[in-house]
Amino acid sequence: MKLEDKVAIITGAAQGIGAALAVGFAQEGAKLVIADILDGKRAVADVEKAGSEAIFVKTDVTKQEECDALAKAAVARFGNIDILVNNAAIFGDIVMKPFTDVSDEEWDRLMAVNVKGPFHCCKSVFSYMKNKGGKIINISSASIMEGVPFMPHYVASKGAIMAFTRALARELGDHKINVNSIAPGFTHSEGGDRFDHNKAVPIPPLEELQLEQRCIKRAAVPEDLVGTAVFLASHMSDFISGQLIVHDGGMSMH
Ligand SMILES: NC(=O)c1ccc[n+]([C@@H]2O[C@H](COP(=O)([O-])OP(=O)(O)OC[C@H]3O[C@@H](n4cnc5c(N)ncnc54)[C@H](O)[C@@H]3O)[C@@H](O)[C@H]2O)c1
Repeated sequence: MKLEDKVAIITGAAQGIGAALAVGFAQEGAKLVIADILDGKRAVADVEKAGSEAIFVKTDVTKQEECDALAKAAVARFGNIDILVNNAAIFGDIVMKPFTDVSDEEWDRLMAVNVKGPFHCCKSVFSYMKNKGGKIINISSASIMEGVPFMPHYVASKGAIMAFTRALARELGDHKINVNSIAPGFTHSEGGDRFDHNKAVPIPPLEELQLEQRCIKRAAVPEDLVGTAVFLASHMSDFISGQLIVHDGGMSMH
């Protein structure tokens, strides 16, 4: 197993991509800490069904003290933190609309979750990782490659995640902490499906727009991301840091 006895925190793992990554990590032997503002009971049960152990720690990533408590709870239960996946984000509730209609409040709230959240979580796990190494995986979005319109705050937040990944990778390399990011294209998660039915501009479903441009012309599901995340969380990627792996069926190439 590729993650035997590793301890992984995944934020936003009560549902969607985070929950699929939790099960995928569990199947590789990892112990999971599920963090979310939503109830994580179902995700914990799914990890247990997959043959591993998990705890749920209710966490709002916009609050540094809650992220610190998350890291403490992980160490109290499992003794260590090896892997952090910064996956929590505002996505499903976004309404696509002209940029002039995005309010300051919407912009600030989204940045607080999507950008400041990962910053908080990295700070919280650092003291536990710094002497022994670790893996940090930040979930960005393929929308930064395409420049998807009508959601400028979201696309800007995910571009910031790519840049944050690079800066942190440089700073943490000497601590044997690898920092990488994954950029999914449109994926059928709970959030993804809600998002694609909720638009204030007359554009077709994103999947319809993206399918034709993919090399691999099929719908994407959260489980598609498991292999890449396991790779980045495991020793197999020990010499890779600061990278962005685009995960959109070959729609954009970089
Ligand atoms: N599904 C897609 O098409 C797609 C495409 C590109 C990138 N992504 C990214 O993948 C990640 C997962 O998205 P998803 O599709 O599973 O969406 P989702 O909405 O199903 O899951 C996001 C999770 O984050 C949690 N969350 C939101 N705010 C939080 C907060 N303040 N603190 C803690 N948790 C919080 C939500 O409760 C939810 O469980 C996100 O970073 C998203 O931006 C998704």
